[in-house]
Amino acid sequence: MIGIIGSGAMGTGIAQVAAAAGENIILFDTEKSALEEAKINLDSTLKKLVEKGKISADDAKNIFGRIHFASHLDEFKSCELVIEAVVENLEVKRNLFSNLEKIVSTDCVLATNTSSLSITSIASACAKPGRVIGIHFFNPATVMPLVEIVKGVATESQVEKNIKSKIELWNKIAVLAKDTPGFIVNRVARPFYGEAIRIYEEGIADIPTIDEAMKELGGFKMGPFELMDFIGNDVNYTVTETVWKQFFHDPKYKPSLTQKRMVEANLLGRKTGKGYYNYEQPQTSDIRLQSINIKPQIFNRILVMLINEAADALYYGVATKEDLDLAMTKGVNYPKGLLMWADEIGVEKVLAEMEKLYSEYCEDRYRPSVLLRKMVREKRKFYS
Ligand SMILES: NC(=O)c1ccc[n+]([C@@H]2O[C@H](COP(=O)([O-])OP(=O)(O)OC[C@H]3O[C@@H](n4cnc5c(N)ncnc54)[C@H](O)[C@@H]3O)[C@@H](O)[C@H]2O)c1
Repeated sequence: MIGIIGSGAMGTGIAQVAAAAGENIILFDTEKSALEEAKINLDSTLKKLVEKGKISADDAKNIFGRIHFASHLDEFKSCELVIEAVVENLEVKRNLFSNLEKIVSTDCVLATNTSSLSITSIASACAKPGRVIGIHFFNPATVMPLVEIVKGVATESQVEKNIKSKIELWNKIAVLAKDTPGFIVNRVARPFYGEAIRIYEEGIADIPTIDEAMKELGGFKMGPFELMDFIGNDVNYTVTETVWKQFFHDPKYKPSLTQKRMVEANLLGRKTGKGYYNYEQPQTSDIRLQSINIKPQIFNRILVMLINEAADALYYGVATKEDLDLAMTKGVNYPKGLLMWADEIGVEKVLAEMEKLYSEYCEDRYRPSVLLRKMVREKRKFYS
C-alpha cells in the first residue's frame, strides 16, 4: 500500500501514476474539499484518457478503484511507502513526518515531493531519518517522465536503491541527485531564465528575438520568456530566489529586478493573461529593435552559461553526467543533454566563451567552472 498525503495538483497526479502501475493507494488531505476535488479531477482525467483511446474503460475503472480516499492518517498503518505532497513549508513537513512515524511500521519509507526544501532538514524531525528520501516529480506528474530521487545526509543507500527501482516500475525515468539546492533541474536550468533576462535588461535584444534565438538555433521547444510566462513568473521567481538564498547568495543565482517587478505588477504570464507577452490581445505588429545577426550571440551566451552550471553540478557531485543530461532532456525537454552538447561544441570553446564573459563583466556570476578548466588542461571530453 502506498500512502499519499496532500491531494493537490501533485498528490493527485502521483496517485494516478502509481495506481496506473498497479499500486494500491491511500490518499489523504486535511481539507475535505481538496479530497473531494481530487476525486472529481481523477474521475474526469481518466474519462478523458478513455475518450482519447489511451486506456480502456476497464483500465480507468481499475485505476480509480485502486485509490482509496482516507479521512484519517491512522489508515496509513499498513503503508510500505508514504509520499507527502503537502504545502511547501518546512515546519508542516517536519511535523507531518514526525507524527507519521507514530502510525506507520518501522520499515515504512517516508518520501517528500518537496521542490526546494532540504531533505536532510525534513528527515531530522524523524526518529529514523535513514528512511526519509526525496522523490521529486515534475508538474504535471502524469505527463513529465522525470523523477529526481534525492538522498539526504542520513538516508540509507538501500532505501535509495529500492525507491529508484519502484519509481522505474511506475514507468518513470529516475535520476539520483544530491541534497543540494534545486537538486538537478531547478538548479541547472537557472541560467536559461536568468541570462535571458540579463540580455534583455542590457538592451542587447528584445524579448521575441531572445526567444527565437533559443528556439531556432538551439532547438528549444519554448524560448525563456515564453517558458517563464507558461510556468508563471511568480513561481519561477520564487524558485530562483530560494536557490539563491540556499546557496548563501551566490551571485550565479541572483534573481533579477525585472522579474520581481513583473511579479509585483501581477504580470504572471498565461494564468493572468499578461506576462512578457500579452495573451489577451496577441500583438500583430512586431517591432524589432535589432537585426537577426544578434541571435547567435544570444544563443551562445545562454548555452555556455547552462553548460557551465551543469559542469559545476557534476564537479560537486550533484549527479552523474548521464543523470545530469537525462534530467535536462526529460525534466525540462531540452533538445540535448548539456554535457553532450559541450562535447559537440568543444569544451575549449565553452571555456573561452565563459572567460570572455568573466573578463568583460568582472562579475562572479560568470566565473567558469573549475571542471571546464581542468578538462581543457587535460584535453578531456565529458563522454569518451
Ligand atoms: N506544483 C508544482 O509544480 C510542483 C512540482 C514539483 C513539486 N512540488 C511540490 O509538491 C508539493 C505540493 O505541491 P502542489 O502544487 O500539489 O500544492 P497544492 O497546493 O496544489 O496542494 C497541497 C495540498 O496539501 C494539503 N495540505 C496542506 N497541509 C497538509 C497537511 N498537514 N496534511 C495533509 N494535507 C495537507 C492542502 O490542503 C492541499 O490540498 C509541494 O511541496 C511543492 O513544492 C510542486
